[in-house]
Amino acid sequence: MAQRTLLIREFHYPQDYESAERLWKDMEKGVHFSRSDVPAEIEKKLTRDPDLFLVAESDGELVGTVIGGFDGRRGMVYHLAVAQAHRRRGVAEVLMREIEKRLVDRGCIRALLLVHADNVEARGLYEKQDWVLLADNVVYSKDIA
Ligand SMILES: CC(C)(COP(=O)(O)OP(=O)(O)OC[C@H]1O[C@@H](n2cnc3c(N)ncnc32)[C@H](O)[C@@H]1OP(=O)(O)O)[C@@H](O)C(=O)NCCC(=O)NCCS
Repeated sequence: MAQRTLLIREFHYPQDYESAERLWKDMEKGVHFSRSDVPAEIEKKLTRDPDLFLVAESDGELVGTVIGGFDGRRGMVYHLAVAQAHRRRGVAEVLMREIEKRLVDRGCIRALLLVHADNVEARGLYEKQDWVLLADNVVYSKDIA
């Protein structure tokens, strides 16, 4: 079988939006399409951090995403998603390595991410890449606008 080419690149708006929206909506778990994912919110994020919004492209098809954030103290990782037909080929590992590198380039020394306790695939990946479980912590959130 011919080798597929995998390209990790920055998200292009608006060209990539439809494919990313479809990918996120197709996720069976782990990534849930929310009001943070509508075009205006994606544009807001890209204006601030164009270098921390990445896609994986396989033979021209958008097959993965990851979004990073850095507030000057902590990094965050969001929306790691890989299309089902492209899983278990290391796409997520490559996306994670690249987003970590870019966070480091921004000056970030410690990053956090949220993962559902039952998400064995994602947890396997993060542990393989040396992310440490903060088992004594709980997470709060609030819609403040
Ligand atoms: C989690 C996810 C991003 C992994 O993507 P992927 O490209 O298939 O992952 P990779 O091929 O890079 O796998 C890397 C490691 O992750 C772990 N992993 C991935 N899929 C796994 C599975 N089905 N079962 C157990 N471990 C798994 C393994 O440790 C794997 O390393 P290995 O292949 O050497 O065993 C993908 O399953 C996905 O999109 N899930 C739905 C969305 C989601 O849950 N995102 C995470 C939000 S926190």
